[in-house]
Amino acid sequence: MIKPHGSEELMPKIVNTDEEKAALLESAKTMKKIKVSSAAAANLVMLGAGYFTPLGGFMDKKDVLSVANEMKLSNGLFWPTPVVNLTSQKIDFKEGEQIALIDPNVDGDQIIAIQTVNKIEKLDTDDIDNIIEKVFGTNDKEHPGVNTFYDQGDTLISGNVDVLNFSYFEKDFGETFRTAMQIRSSIESKGWNNVVAFQTRNPMHRAHEELCRMAGERVNADGILIHMLLGKLKPGDIPADVRDSAIRTMVEHYFPKDYVMITGYGFDMLYAGPREALLHAVFRQNCGCSYLIVGRDHAGVGDYYGAFDAQDIFDEIPSDALKIKIFKADHTAYSKKLNKVVMMRDVEDHSKDDFVILSGTKVREMLSNGESLPKEFARPEVAEVLMKHYMQD
Ligand code: ADX
Repeated sequence: MIKPHGSEELMPKIVNTDEEKAALLESAKTMKKIKVSSAAAANLVMLGAGYFTPLGGFMDKKDVLSVANEMKLSNGLFWPTPVVNLTSQKIDFKEGEQIALIDPNVDGDQIIAIQTVNKIEKLDTDDIDNIIEKVFGTNDKEHPGVNTFYDQGDTLISGNVDVLNFSYFEKDFGETFRTAMQIRSSIESKGWNNVVAFQTRNPMHRAHEELCRMAGERVNADGILIHMLLGKLKPGDIPADVRDSAIRTMVEHYFPKDYVMITGYGFDMLYAGPREALLHAVFRQNCGCSYLIVGRDHAGVGDYYGAFDAQDIFDEIPSDALKIKIFKADHTAYSKKLNKVVMMRDVEDHSKDDFVILSGTKVREMLSNGESLPKEFARPEVAEVLMKHYMQD
C-alpha cells in the first residue's frame, strides 16, 4: 500500500490507552488551560486521527512562514497549509510548560489535548497578511477562510500534542467519522490496492456520482473512498448529517455493493482552493489511497480561484512531493444530447446549452421554495432527502 506522507508508518497523535489518558487528565488538573479556536481544535482532531502524519503538533513561526511561502516545512518536507494554534488570549504560561487545550465545540470545557509548548511567538500584521495571501490567494475578509484565519489572533503557540479525543465527531457521526488508521486497515482487509478518494462537502449529485464512477473505471480502481468533510462550513452550506444521509442513499441505489466506502473526517473547511487541494491529497495519501479526484473549483468559494487552479498547482510542486496521484476531472454535467452525465472534454461537439447546469445557489433556492430538483441533476432519492431537510427549516 502507498506509504504515508514523509513517513514509513502513520503517526497519529491520539493517546491510545485509558491509563495514559487518565494520567494526562490527572496532570492536567494543575496545568494552565486555554480554549482553542475551532480551527485549532479541528487541527487536533486531524493530528489525532493520523491524517496529518508526520506532523507532531502545531507549527512554529519559522515553519508557518516556510509553509506559506515555499510549501515546505523548515526541514524540507512538502506541506501546503499552516497547522497552527493561534490565539488572541493573554498568555499565562511559559515555553517548555505543558498546557491543557479546551475544546470550543463541546459543552463543559472538555480537554481535547495536552500541548507541550515549544515556542510562544507573536506574528506581526505583515506576517499574517503574507501568510493569508499566500495560502488563500487573497486578503479579502469576505472570503470565509480568510476571515476565520484573521479572527484567530496573532500569538502562535507551537509544540507537540497528545490528543485525548476526537471532539464531537465520534458522537455525532459514529457511522461515518473514521481515522486514517481505520481507513488504511479497512482498505487492507478488503484487499484493495488501487483506491480512488473523493473529497466532498456537498450531498452527491449526479455529476459527483459520475465523477467517482468515471475515475474508478479509468484508473481501474478496486474501490472508491468517499471521504466527506464533517466539520464546520460557511453559513448556507448543507449540514453534515443531511449530506451524509444523501450520500448513503445515493451509494445504496446506484453503486455495486462493496465498491464504495462511505467515510468522513473532522476538519473545518478552509475554502483555500488550490492549497487545500494539496492538503486533501496529503491526507488521502495518509489514508492509503492512490488517487484523489480533483475536479472543477475544488475546495473553492465564490470567484476567488480559477476553475482548474486546484489541478494546475499539482504541476507546480516538485514531482516527488507526494506519492498519491491526481485524477483531473473536467467540468461534468448531464448532456441533453446523449442523455447521460459526461465530462465536457469528452464531448467536443456540445455547446453550453446542451448541458443541464445548476449553480449551488440555484439548487438551494429551488429546495427552499419546495421545488424538486431536475432528475438530470440529482437522483430522485437524493433530492427527496434534501427536500425533507429544507422543508423542516
Ligand atoms: S469541495 O469543496 O469539497 O471540493 P464539492 O463537494 O462540490 O466541493 O466537490 C467535490 C469534488 O467534485 C471536487 O473535486 C470538485 O472539484 C468536484 N466537482 C464537483 N462538481 C463538479 C462538476 N460539476 N464537474 C467537475 N468536477 C466537479
